[in-house]
Amino acid sequence: MCGIVGYSGKTKCGKPLEVCLQGLKRLEYRGYDSAGVALVAPGMERVAYAKKAGRLSNLVGYVQRHPLPDALCGIGHTRWATNGEPSDVNAHPHVSEDGRIAIIHNGIIENAGKLKFDLQSEGYSFVSDTDTEVAAKLLGKIADDIIKKTGKPDLFTACRRMAKMLEGTFTILAVDVREPGVVVGMRHDSPLVVGVGKDESFLGSDVAAFVQYTREAIELGQDQAVRIEGGDITITDFDGKPVEDKHFTVDWDASAAEKGGWPNFMDKEIHEDPSAVNETLMGRFDLDGRIKLDELHVDEDVLRQIDKIIVVACGTASYAGLVAKYAIEHWVRIPVEVELAHEFRYRDPILTPRTLVVAVSQSGETMDTLMAIRHAREQGSKVLAICNTQGSSIPRESDAVLYTHAGPEVAVASTKAFVAQITAAYLLGLYLAQVKGVMFHDEIQLQLSELRAMPKKIQWVLDNDDDLIHQTADRLVDKNGFHFLGRHVGYPVALEGALKLKEIAYTFSEGYAAGELKHGPIALIQEGTPVVVIVPSARNRNILHSKVISTIEEVKARGAYTIAIAEQGDPDAGRYADVTFTVPQCPTLMSPLVDVVPLQLFAMYMAEAKGNDVDKPRNLAKSVTVE
Ligand code: AGP
Repeated sequence: MCGIVGYSGKTKCGKPLEVCLQGLKRLEYRGYDSAGVALVAPGMERVAYAKKAGRLSNLVGYVQRHPLPDALCGIGHTRWATNGEPSDVNAHPHVSEDGRIAIIHNGIIENAGKLKFDLQSEGYSFVSDTDTEVAAKLLGKIADDIIKKTGKPDLFTACRRMAKMLEGTFTILAVDVREPGVVVGMRHDSPLVVGVGKDESFLGSDVAAFVQYTREAIELGQDQAVRIEGGDITITDFDGKPVEDKHFTVDWDASAAEKGGWPNFMDKEIHEDPSAVNETLMGRFDLDGRIKLDELHVDEDVLRQIDKIIVVACGTASYAGLVAKYAIEHWVRIPVEVELAHEFRYRDPILTPRTLVVAVSQSGETMDTLMAIRHAREQGSKVLAICNTQGSSIPRESDAVLYTHAGPEVAVASTKAFVAQITAAYLLGLYLAQVKGVMFHDEIQLQLSELRAMPKKIQWVLDNDDDLIHQTADRLVDKNGFHFLGRHVGYPVALEGALKLKEIAYTFSEGYAAGELKHGPIALIQEGTPVVVIVPSARNRNILHSKVISTIEEVKARGAYTIAIAEQGDPDAGRYADVTFTVPQCPTLMSPLVDVVPLQLFAMYMAEAKGNDVDKPRNLAKSVTVE
């Protein structure tokens, strides 16, 4: 998820650069591993641009030392790398072969490999590892073809033609020195809004990019393109047909706009759960639908030899690993141990060259996890990182990395990263099954189709359960000592639900396996004790379902106040629980991706009801970089 800004005015001046840098500053939460700007003014032979790895301040410092020319229009980008490490060369903008066109991009172009191959066979060369550069070269080719045919440049048409050739998700802005003052934008499954000014116009990934200049905006719809030139705004579909403008007035202040209008980053990021799963799946399949994890850079023969997996992680990331354990053992039939990273190296683990250590980390900087993988590598094991932050320490020190594409997670409480980590771990498990040949192609495809269906099911929970969850959190705001219970893959979800309530509502909670209740904890249950139970489906392994319903009966009999997370149509949960948060039906192994969502929202609403700082809870840091 990257930050995108565009500007067009009527006067050649420094404002395009100012708007781009100001806008990128407000969008830096969307991505901050590199940044760049491109400017166009009449008379330029080539687009003027600058781009630097690292935080936005690196770019600002660079352009102060190497001033860019006054311009009529400009585009700016702050990157959250998905294809290609964070570096100057991989930073946006990327330019056409002749340097006359520059583009910036947010999203993942799934068919970039094929397009690149075709362009290379026509003699085009590439300097970066990005899918965006492929689009830049392709757009240059299309633009030149138009000029050859019509005798004049038409960036708007060229962009629309390219848009119809791309697969995946994209918001792209483009400028061309042959049309100074024109900025073209287009989007598919990635956001873009237009800012309406007087004799000037703006573009942005969200209104935070330009809200300080104008609050009048137009939302660009799916598969639409926009051309701005000064105050002139033209919006069409990809076929060039005009479409109705969706005007709105931004009623957020600038700081709220950074959260895209959400009250806090955690709320925003929970609502990005669906896209975090979807984007993590993007671009990881070949034309036959087989899983393609080239980025792993681990020889398939090495993977075939793996006879044990040890997951090392902390906190939420470790619970994602625990969920994955159930799935990977079921699919690949090798043991999967899940170790808290800070315990791992002190227990003298048994590691061999056939052990794959999988480090799960959102930040990629958790010191406990970093120390664990160093120990694993010293012992001769292969290490694979599942990480959300490109170029961070843990992937850098691993033999292989499988990035999640959840976009930057700003709130300390990890939410969208959790579902993305499960998704990536499932992809890894199914890839191992594919490489080892322990699952048939159609069996793998069935699991993948279930996984692909999950973003919509997560969205269903967000759309349908929110009010009941909010009311329940408000009603229980003064309660303490929550029990979170689950079985099988519901057990790590229970652990995660308890952690969320602890870390942002400061409410003491304990998560444990439901079967453990009668081995001790039931002594704590008394009148009004709040108990949250993740109920497995009654449709698949109903033996687990009936046991969990018995658990609810046991705690109810002792006066507990019970909250059930249960799937639509569950025949029993509603009869026994005081409140039921409903989730769509899905296979057992996929259920954590929907079951966790009510618990994320519940913890957030409880924290809000207590007046806590939801995004920055006391005593906690987003990344624990000390042991
Ligand atoms: C989760 O909400 C917490 N913020 C914490 O448990 C976190 O998951 C843990 O510190 C691991 O962080 P990492 O994923 O960045 O390695």
